[in-house]
Amino acid sequence: MKKKILVVGGTKGIGESVVDLLSEYECVVFSRNESALENHLVCDVLKDDLPDIDNLSGLVYCPGSINLKPFHRLSEEDFLQDFQINVLGAVRVIQKYFRELKRNKGSIVLFGTVAAHQGMSFHASIAAAKGGLEALGRSLAAEWAPHIRVNIVNPSLTETSLADGLLNTDQKKENAALRHPLKKIGQPIDIAKAVQLCLENEWMTGQTIGVDGGMSTLK
Ligand SMILES: NC(=O)c1ccc[n+]([C@@H]2O[C@H](COP(=O)([O-])OP(=O)(O)OC[C@H]3O[C@@H](n4cnc5c(N)ncnc54)[C@H](OP(=O)(O)O)[C@@H]3O)[C@@H](O)[C@H]2O)c1
Repeated sequence: MKKKILVVGGTKGIGESVVDLLSEYECVVFSRNESALENHLVCDVLKDDLPDIDNLSGLVYCPGSINLKPFHRLSEEDFLQDFQINVLGAVRVIQKYFRELKRNKGSIVLFGTVAAHQGMSFHASIAAAKGGLEALGRSLAAEWAPHIRVNIVNPSLTETSLADGLLNTDQKKENAALRHPLKKIGQPIDIAKAVQLCLENEWMTGQTIGVDGGMSTLK
């Protein structure tokens, strides 16, 4: 029987690439908008009831935000919105499914950001939310070892609809590529391969993997 994983946000960007890559798994996918994907359910994880899913052995939580502004223009509402989609949405989904994941010695993968490690202008709100998510992930990894593994993947700028505003001209793409030691921006498959590693390596938990063209660690 194929292992079953839930990919919240598996219809676009990195999540879509995860679903494509993990063809040996049965992927259940949630998103707010309709999709022709098999095993897809329209479900807004911030407000809809979450359905029971049995035999779940993996959870990948993809929803996130990129809300970049100078600090003086960030409102409390901005901080709350970033916290809600990045952290509380993940909390809600994990609280629903952790018992099922525990039964199946499951694995959870969350997405942080390079900007929670390398200070970047205009990233105050998203860095605060993703830093919190990363710390949440490590806490749960400790609390649930040896039953559930929890790992975090930290992308840098990756070509998805979420990042469109930062990459919608050739000039922006080139500038973004040049800021990275590896001189290119990320593609969803680059990040999906790290998700696959987190799901499959059974001696790995509490880790944060930077998939970021060298951005977080190299000058
Ligand atoms: N792309 C980057 O440059 C980058 C950089 C650093 C970190 N990250 C992180 O990597 C993760 C994936 O990013 P991405 O660029 O692939 O994002 P994306 O292209 O915006 O995809 C997000 C997915 O989540 C779904 N979604 C959003 N809100 C939802 C909700 N409330 N309930 C259910 N589904 C929801 C979306 O579908 P619907 O819209 O139909 O709901 C979509 O399938 C995010 O956590 C992001 O913060 C991305």
